[in-house]
Amino acid sequence: MTRIHHDGPLIIGGGLAGLSAALEAAPKPTLVVTPAPLLQACSSAWAQGGVAAALSADDGAELHAADTAAAGAGLVETDVTRALTADGRETVEWLASLGAPFDRDADGGFAVSLEAAHSRARVARVGGDGAGRAILSALVASVRAAPHIEVWEDARLRGLLQDKIGRVRGALIERDGRMVEVLAPAVVLATGGAGGLFARTTTPASLLGEGMALAYQAGAEILDPEFVQFHPTAIDVGLDPMPLATEALRGEGARLIDSAGNLLLGPAKDADLQARDVVARAVHQARADGRGAYLDARAAVGAHFPEEFPAVFAACMRAGLDPRETPIPVAPGAHYHMGGIAADADGRTSLAGLFAVGECAATGVHGANRLASNSLLEAAAFGRRTGRAAAAERGGERAVTTPRIAPDLAPEALRTLRMTMSDDVGVTRDAVGLTRALATIDRLEREAPGALPLVAARLITAAALERRESRGGHYRADWPETEASARHTRFRRPDLPAAI
Ligand code: SIN
Repeated sequence: MTRIHHDGPLIIGGGLAGLSAALEAAPKPTLVVTPAPLLQACSSAWAQGGVAAALSADDGAELHAADTAAAGAGLVETDVTRALTADGRETVEWLASLGAPFDRDADGGFAVSLEAAHSRARVARVGGDGAGRAILSALVASVRAAPHIEVWEDARLRGLLQDKIGRVRGALIERDGRMVEVLAPAVVLATGGAGGLFARTTTPASLLGEGMALAYQAGAEILDPEFVQFHPTAIDVGLDPMPLATEALRGEGARLIDSAGNLLLGPAKDADLQARDVVARAVHQARADGRGAYLDARAAVGAHFPEEFPAVFAACMRAGLDPRETPIPVAPGAHYHMGGIAADADGRTSLAGLFAVGECAATGVHGANRLASNSLLEAAAFGRRTGRAAAAERGGERAVTTPRIAPDLAPEALRTLRMTMSDDVGVTRDAVGLTRALATIDRLEREAPGALPLVAARLITAAALERRESRGGHYRADWPETEASARHTRFRRPDLPAAI
């Protein structure tokens, strides 16, 4: 085992949150660790919509915060959300200054589009539906040019190093088949979400909630893990992961229909732009009833498809489907994890020395249901704040405990887990299915005790079983009502002292 001492933050994850943090940690030497080359295997690069921010004259940060709170169904934290939306314009301008080529209007301002549950058009887009890749490419170029940043693109987080009072002092990294203990004054988890735990997902299948699982095992507080967002219009052409048909298509007037051509959500003009959980349930129900679900963009987008939505167009054409002439078959897919490692706007978790930012974190801005395109804003805005906070941390004691390395899950076991999560912990849940899912996790656990995807799946499923109400992305068919007062779920390992 090699041990190295690093003087600045160790950032795990190379998506928008991790790279924003790395850039802002300057001039502290910063090590970014990712399991794959930058731009691959992170959700940020797959984002189609864009960055939500109050950018037009008829909009404001307070209105953006109010829309975020309304979508979040009672669990959005006001102060942290105001801090986020107040940073909206500055964040978009910062990304543009790094070279992100946002679409512009006739006056040279940011062109903005409408997405579901936003009361104003406020999503800054790039090249129609290419925001994630274009923004991340600009950041990757800046990271490569930054003298304070070193990137390991073939390295995997295997554990957190803690001292005797539980403070995180570094991480165990597997690189080229060898284990390296990296001691650092701050570890930033920017490991992304957990979509890969589900058989039907729009995210890279490699995202298995492992950052959340490791943080939990180290003693960090986990917040609201039951809240998983299912995107209503994942393109259903037999691919894993499923390509996304961005919500901006519905913003342009595309409609959801069944196989007989009936409107799934009724005739109202903005019916298809209701909150994502509402639309996802309608799509789920239509499919369950055998009516099928399709996104019909023929009239709304038609011949403009290739220029306006090139990524969606290419995905459809690859599947032999021309969306200018044919409605697109869709199904809900796990898309975003609202819950995760409890963290504040600066990424501080309940464990000293450990920071979390981006999708693996739960800062309270998404509540029970994330507002579309707030995730890229959060990743960049809180990523920057987290980078600054982590860079200010001081090192200390060098005596750390080497953690036990969790076993990997065999491919067949992972397949079983993913089917179970989609079928029993998906768009609609009930006690019978959730209990069955926990039994499957127990069984898989006997074969691979402590495997991180199982730890993450258990957190999500146990919280879903415990929450006997429906709220936002969590819908219980056996508890369809929403309780009058909203409460968070907080998990912390019971076998560790509370002081950690
Ligand atoms: C989309 O473009 O529909 C996804 C945007 C998001 O998830 O924020």
